[in-house]
Amino acid sequence: MTVSRIAVIGGDGIGPEVIEQAIRVADAALAKYGGQVEWNRLPWSGDHYLKTGELMPTNAWDILRQHDAILLGALGHPQVSDQITLHGLLLPMRRKFDLYLNLRPAYLFAGVPCPLHNVDSRTGALLPKPPGSIDMLVYRENTEGEYAPIGGRLYLGTPHEVAVQTNVFTHRGCERVMRAAFEGARKRRKKVTSITKSNAQQFGMVLWDEVFKEVSRDYPDVQANSLLVDAAAMDFVRKPETFDVVVASNLFGDILTDLSAIITGSMGMAASANINPERKFPSMFEPVHGSAPDIAGKGIANPLAAILSASMMFEHLGMEKVGKSLREAVAKVLQDGTVRTPDLGGTATTADLGAACCAAV
Ligand code: NAD
Ligand code: IPM
Ligand code: MN
Repeated sequence: MTVSRIAVIGGDGIGPEVIEQAIRVADAALAKYGGQVEWNRLPWSGDHYLKTGELMPTNAWDILRQHDAILLGALGHPQVSDQITLHGLLLPMRRKFDLYLNLRPAYLFAGVPCPLHNVDSRTGALLPKPPGSIDMLVYRENTEGEYAPIGGRLYLGTPHEVAVQTNVFTHRGCERVMRAAFEGARKRRKKVTSITKSNAQQFGMVLWDEVFKEVSRDYPDVQANSLLVDAAAMDFVRKPETFDVVVASNLFGDILTDLSAIITGSMGMAASANINPERKFPSMFEPVHGSAPDIAGKGIANPLAAILSASMMFEHLGMEKVGKSLREAVAKVLQDGTVRTPDLGGTATTADLGAACCAAV
């Protein structure tokens, strides 16, 4: 049997806490459905940097390339500069490994309290949103846009200091994420919404819109819409059920997926996949959330985002049964509703929720 080699970077704060539960539940699913995984835990983190003076070894990228996938918790440490952690590992990884699709699903599971309600048009009463009524998949561009590391600072520390940060939008970069979004929509409800701000940003976002129009012509069977990002933010709250596939630039996709996470219950349940579709490099799977320093070390972080990210990883690796069983276990535990971490209104610990998912598997 082939062994999948997974590089595990727990990282900072709650990262390692939630990733250990994801591995625990994955091991339960692997034992049941078959499949062999070698988990290669790498200590690369802010704490490791404080201890050793380096975040990761100089051959870190070669080490990562020897794996079939990467499972990552979160990076970001209160005592270590973002230059070391985020700009040393997380963001360069997305570019170096050309992980240009960042898939971020948001689904309202049964049993999850949704902060949004429907309003009964006759009585004005607030009605709970039905499970599954919010079901969107954001395709976030992950290698360029507003995150391109291009710019600089001049006259540092003087009153006339200047900072320039350049957005980079390329025809190729827009086209490849948009084509993937249309292909993805064909397997779903056949609707793609492009997020733009071309009314204000007259170069990059206008190119974005033009490429979206071009690509949409190749998919006449898919409904193509375009929304300005400010109005889209409103509609994520006002009528989230109208979204199916959403395609957005790096920054807009980042912001909107914290919003899509909270309207489907919690930051602690939002999973993501950073994909290199050509499979030239290992793809990377991580929760949408960060290291959550406010709750780190307390053992109360919700591990479901990490478990669902692992589920996406197994589907990517062709281990569909294992991936599906992780997702079904999460759905069952949420529907039962007895084991909930504080973000979902309960008193359970990270490990309790991991154990409940193992039992559900
Ligand atoms: P965050 O996502 O870490 O936390 C935002 C809020 O959501 C906090 O109140 C936190 O307690 C809560 N939350 C997040 N995950 C949770 C979980 N699993 N269970 C329960 N509650 C959860 O965002 P932040 O506070 O803005 O960022 C903290 C650090 O993480 C920063 O250094 C930031 O740069 C970094 N960050 C890293 C990533 C990543 O590695 N992919 C993503 C986002 C933020
Ligand atoms: C995310 C995070 C990162 C991003 C940060 C930590 C740089 O917020 O993965 O959503 O903005 O991409
Ligand atoms: Mn984010």
